[in-house]
Amino acid sequence: MKFDYTKYIRTYLLSLKPYRSARDEYKGGKSPMVFLDANENPFETPVNRYPDPMQRVLKKEIASWKGLDVNQIYLSNGSDEFISQVIMGCCEPGIDNIMIVPPTFGMYEVSAKMFGVGIQKVPLTSNFQLDVPAILKAADTTTKIIFIPTPNNPTANRFDLHSIEQLIQGFPSLVLVDEAYVEFSTNPSVISWLSKYPNLMVCQTFSKAQGMAGARLGMAFAHPDFISFFNRIKAPYNLNSMTINAALKRLKEQDKVNEQVRLLLAERERLEKAFASIPIILKCFPSDANFLLVRVDDSTRRYQELLEKGIVVRNPSNNVNCENTLRISVGLPEENDRLIEALSSLS
Ligand SMILES: Cc1ncc(COP(=O)(O)O)c(C=O)c1O
Repeated sequence: MKFDYTKYIRTYLLSLKPYRSARDEYKGGKSPMVFLDANENPFETPVNRYPDPMQRVLKKEIASWKGLDVNQIYLSNGSDEFISQVIMGCCEPGIDNIMIVPPTFGMYEVSAKMFGVGIQKVPLTSNFQLDVPAILKAADTTTKIIFIPTPNNPTANRFDLHSIEQLIQGFPSLVLVDEAYVEFSTNPSVISWLSKYPNLMVCQTFSKAQGMAGARLGMAFAHPDFISFFNRIKAPYNLNSMTINAALKRLKEQDKVNEQVRLLLAERERLEKAFASIPIILKCFPSDANFLLVRVDDSTRRYQELLEKGIVVRNPSNNVNCENTLRISVGLPEENDRLIEALSSLS
């Protein structure tokens, strides 16, 4: 596909000569090799050597899992790191903007602010769907990336696939579809659209359904030219060996992950049913993720009361159209029992 990625990135970075990490030079060879290139401690522990900067073994496994080529994959220290990278790599500080669709995941705005990049906001409709005409109208030459998390955080719902496709087709710049909760969704991933739309990027994470939030591993999928660009501007060893090894192990346990997802979805349904008869809960919004957004009578008070009962939830009420809401993750069955009991006891 003929595609000029350079118009989407900061021209200043085109001439950047990337840091060559010691292990980049190593292309494999006749064993045994002697590594005297990186000033490591040669006495062996599981982590005395630097990790592979390009994570080749893990990317190969992820490529076959996702049905993509290795050169369409970028791995990051959680999706959070990729979100920062894409803003830093594509937006000129003080000139360019990102676009977000509030209520939305908070890190997009925080990252943009950290890099001195402006933020254009086009709120979701009242039923938390994309307002495609308003988005296309608001986008201008300074708009470099729009962030579309689906299922969305904090609202928990999925966006209509047709609207997402319309948006990608009409948007003048990059569309980053953040699929952090895709394993819980009835919508399929949009990674199959990557070959049609070079302005599309998709990110997923090992932090949610994959159960590895503590290891920090994000996956981004995009046109190979973007991936090669991101590889040039990343920290040399952005993923550590322990994370790489844990992910390789987790990839072999997908039956277990699928089973956990099934259980969490069943628990989500149980919570939804229980919430329907809890007086302080006025509404439970439809969820396609592993959490629920509920409207309560008084979110500040109920948040505090739950805290006093030893239950920590999230109060996203300061987001547009989220007045008096709480965001509640689906926990283990016994944790959900405690939650139901605590909420039922509030009057
Ligand atoms: C929509 C969305 N994207 C990304 C992330 C961050 O993922 P990671 O843990 O991979 O940085 C989150 C975390 O809550 C999220 O809700």
